[in-house]
Amino acid sequence: MKKKIAVLTGAGVSAESGISTFRDSGGLWDNYNVEDVASIDGWYRNPGLVLDFYNIRRKELASASPNAAHLAIAGLEKDYDVTVITQNVDNLHERAGSTRIIHLHGELTKVRPEDSCNDRDGFSEAKVFDIGYGEIHLGDLSPDGVQLRPHIVWFGEAVPKIESAIDAVEAADILLIVGTSLQVYPAAGLYRYAGRNTPIYIIDPKDVPAYDRRITHIRNVATAGMEEFRRILDGQKAD
Ligand code: OAD
Repeated sequence: MKKKIAVLTGAGVSAESGISTFRDSGGLWDNYNVEDVASIDGWYRNPGLVLDFYNIRRKELASASPNAAHLAIAGLEKDYDVTVITQNVDNLHERAGSTRIIHLHGELTKVRPEDSCNDRDGFSEAKVFDIGYGEIHLGDLSPDGVQLRPHIVWFGEAVPKIESAIDAVEAADILLIVGTSLQVYPAAGLYRYAGRNTPIYIIDPKDVPAYDRRITHIRNVATAGMEEFRRILDGQKAD
């Protein structure tokens, strides 16, 4: 039976594809007020501003491609049973070939009516649909006549997929974390669900606020860090 790897990713895994991170200097939250464009209150205050923000993100994604880190994560499936848990709303893991992906914070290329909320019971998946890299504007309605909103989990909303993410981390033989500042909960607390003796690898060029004897910090960017991680795995196989 293949060993199980859970991979938790954040904006840093897509940085080398040219997609801005949030909290690095020059990142998205330097240029936008997070409360205005990524919170449920912001949506009710000024939905047009929110739609524009995600229209720009979708356009940026259309011209981006998976990088060597996304490809290396997809490549792990050859030897391991891999679940990717991503905070990213881009589709670069899919395009790199990963087959089991939990999108904790939603997906940029999907929309749903604004009344299908993101509460404890989740939303009706049946109402979610793909718009690819197109734009949505005020006045764009679902088939039942309701304003469309991005299929994104905003601050102030529940995270419906967190339970399946916890299950994947609990079941993992190895946990890999790539390119997240671990500032946003509940995603930031997921590593605590790893088994007592499960090794945890963190790939990030900067310090991250996770302190645990199980952690090995690979202090590198995602692409080079994934090469290092692969070498560690291959070394273990040879032992
Ligand atoms: P952040 O921008 O908070 O953190 C990005 C992390 O990636 C930092 O730790 C960087 O050091 C690291 N990094 C930068 N370049 C990298 C590279 N080339 N390779 C590897 N790592 C690199 O992004 P997230 O942790 O993903 O949510 O942010 C979490 C959530 O906060 C996002 O999903 C988003 C945001 O607000 C919502 O919008 C709801």
